[in-house]
Amino acid sequence: MKRVAALLTALLLAAPVAAQAPDGAALYKRCAACHLPSGAGVPGAFPPLQTDFVTLAGKPDGRRYLALVVIKGIAGPLTIDGKAYRSAMPAQSMLDDAGIAAVLNHVGSTIAKAGSGFRAFTPAEVAAARKSGEGLTAANVGALHATVGGK
Ligand code: HEC
Repeated sequence: MKRVAALLTALLLAAPVAAQAPDGAALYKRCAACHLPSGAGVPGAFPPLQTDFVTLAGKPDGRRYLALVVIKGIAGPLTIDGKAYRSAMPAQSMLDDAGIAAVLNHVGSTIAKAGSGFRAFTPAEVAAARKSGEGLTAANVGALHATVGGK
């Protein structure tokens, strides 16, 4: 009996205590279907997740915009890295705030290679963007792009 109890205690202690952070690289696979695994995109159809992303991730209103793109989706017309986009990205509503932070961090660090200046997104930052953008449509998010310094 004592040994069984000890075994049970050992098993309980081995169980994970906190939920694991979502795997941004795994979540990026759904983005890669359009933006490609490299993030290079397809000119005129799917924008690259590179220079523009890095610029926008460097300022608060740009970061809010990036979170809103994933939360709400985005519809053009848009100009990104000098190319016109007039398509639409569906809201990634299967992702919660922690998943969105994780996938944006994977894009920033590994896809766009923003370097050591890149500040990680937190679930709280994504939650704040979600709250402040409650009434926005995908087209509203598209119109934000130029106003937050997207090029
Ligand atoms: C079904 C295709 C599709 C999927 C899946 C998709 N996107 Fe998009 N994404 C687009 C399109 C299209 C646009 C540009 C909208 C337009 O043409 O008006 C865009 C725009 C963006 C932008 C704006 C880029 C900029 O420089 O302003 C970001 C950021 C972005 N997507 C990130 C993501 C992330 C992260 C994921 C995965 C969680 C994702 N996308 C999944 C098609 C997609």
